[in-house]
Amino acid sequence: MSKDTFYLTTPIYYVNDIPHIGHSYTTIAADVLARYKRAKNLDVFFLTGTDEHGQKIQKAAQACDKSPIEFVNGVVDKFKTLWNELNISHDDFIRTTEDRHCRRVKKIFQQIQENGDIYLGEYEGWYCIPCESFWIESQLKERSCPECNRTVEKVKEKNYFFRLSKYQKSLLEYHEKHPHFIQPESRRNELLQRIKSPVEDISISRSAIEWGIQVPSDQTHTIYVWIDALLNYITALGYDDDMQKFQKYWPASVHIIGKEILWFHGVIWPAILMSLKIDLPLQVFAHGWWTIEGQKISKSLGNAIDPIGIIQSYGTDAYRYFLLREVPFGGDGNFSYSALIHRINSDLGNDLGNLLQRTLTMIEKYFQGIIPEVSGYDDELKGASHVTHDKMGHEMDGLQFSRALEIVWEFIARVNKFIEDKKPWLLAKSSDTRPQLATVLGTLARAIKDISVFIYPFMPKTAAEIQRQLGMLENNQPLCLEFQQRLKEGTVARKGKPLFPKIESA
Ligand code: ME8
Ligand code: MG
Repeated sequence: MSKDTFYLTTPIYYVNDIPHIGHSYTTIAADVLARYKRAKNLDVFFLTGTDEHGQKIQKAAQACDKSPIEFVNGVVDKFKTLWNELNISHDDFIRTTEDRHCRRVKKIFQQIQENGDIYLGEYEGWYCIPCESFWIESQLKERSCPECNRTVEKVKEKNYFFRLSKYQKSLLEYHEKHPHFIQPESRRNELLQRIKSPVEDISISRSAIEWGIQVPSDQTHTIYVWIDALLNYITALGYDDDMQKFQKYWPASVHIIGKEILWFHGVIWPAILMSLKIDLPLQVFAHGWWTIEGQKISKSLGNAIDPIGIIQSYGTDAYRYFLLREVPFGGDGNFSYSALIHRINSDLGNDLGNLLQRTLTMIEKYFQGIIPEVSGYDDELKGASHVTHDKMGHEMDGLQFSRALEIVWEFIARVNKFIEDKKPWLLAKSSDTRPQLATVLGTLARAIKDISVFIYPFMPKTAAEIQRQLGMLENNQPLCLEFQQRLKEGTVARKGKPLFPKIESA
């Protein structure tokens, strides 16, 4: 039997500048979900990539006196390096400048045109270059972009339009029939309000912009960068000249995005798919926005910290853990070094790191490092581990990553309390209580093994290090991702350095 599939995507990021915390957040979240689903034995396809055309990038290249392609090649490398450092396990990385993408976009544009959904018209309105968004006068806020508050420029040009208005009714019906299509709920409600008010046709080409994919049969226009970009989700699967992956993985299980681009993903993208008569993705999850020390992340404020610097100082896994633990997925968050250090010292160092260190110290001291067989894996702890597994799974399925981690840390607290309650150091005092001592330490080793499986999607390196110290990875044994898998008899622990040594200050 073939496995169930799971297709998930991140936005493809603009390459006008190097990646910052915000970009890394979405990609890490997607990676956590991808690793979780693979561990659950699903056939996962995880796509990320870069959005490389359009006015904003053309301008950024000009400012550095580079040709657009030379410029984007340099920035794309920075994204790839960062994903590598962050241990991102994507299955494909699509660039919108690749031939496989460009030729498919042209073909799809033609298909939409043949379906009667594209016409030539006159566009007069405003354009926000940083957002690559068209706005009509009444949408502006104090004459600025309602999304990013920056200056907009006046645009008057002949453009190709997409008949978005034609799909308003079907979109509304679809959203009403599929209450979980847009998550979280509050964002869905906002979006529904907007779809209920008049929806205008949208401009989908630019005549003034050269850096883009040409409109087929009209050399004087390039395809609007957002249409070019959205199509990546299907061109990467080969739509429609190499359909094997498309047939296997489409519809996407979830598009993970930031809240500012929900209109494109919850309205424009579904309408395009409707025009093409392709099934809609099962879910769009719009997470919140990070600020840094209370401020909006922006180039002009000069506060866009390079994640590479953070992970060099604090480690990849601590960073991954912090971002997903600190804020409920969907809400906004604030990054500060003090909050990061606090999480490392308390959750990772004290709760988790010390648990492993204490347990292995005792196993070495009392059992020469051989993990005791357990006649009775303490039933209460075993039960708690099963409950943790189930509750965590429920939260992971709902992309509630911070809740999932909270549940795991409740279990860790319980295991720490188990040590305090059982007092193995007292049991070690007499040979009469040796069997109880073996049960306590054997139980602890097994609980820690379970914890390594729970934290694996979030902290893959730490999970591996715990299993290495537990002696589970001897002789090239693969990482254990299966919570039910038993520890082998006679496993010899190899205590190593503390997982998260205490950090004194920033
Ligand atoms: O919008 N907090 O690309 P982009 C949290 N190319 N997430 C953030 C963030 C922040 N402060 N800043 C950015 C584009 N992000 C288009 C997408 S998709 C077909 C085309 C994350 O480089 C978040 O996921 O502006 C947001 O949606 C995305 O980066 C925007 O990246
Ligand atoms: Mg943006």
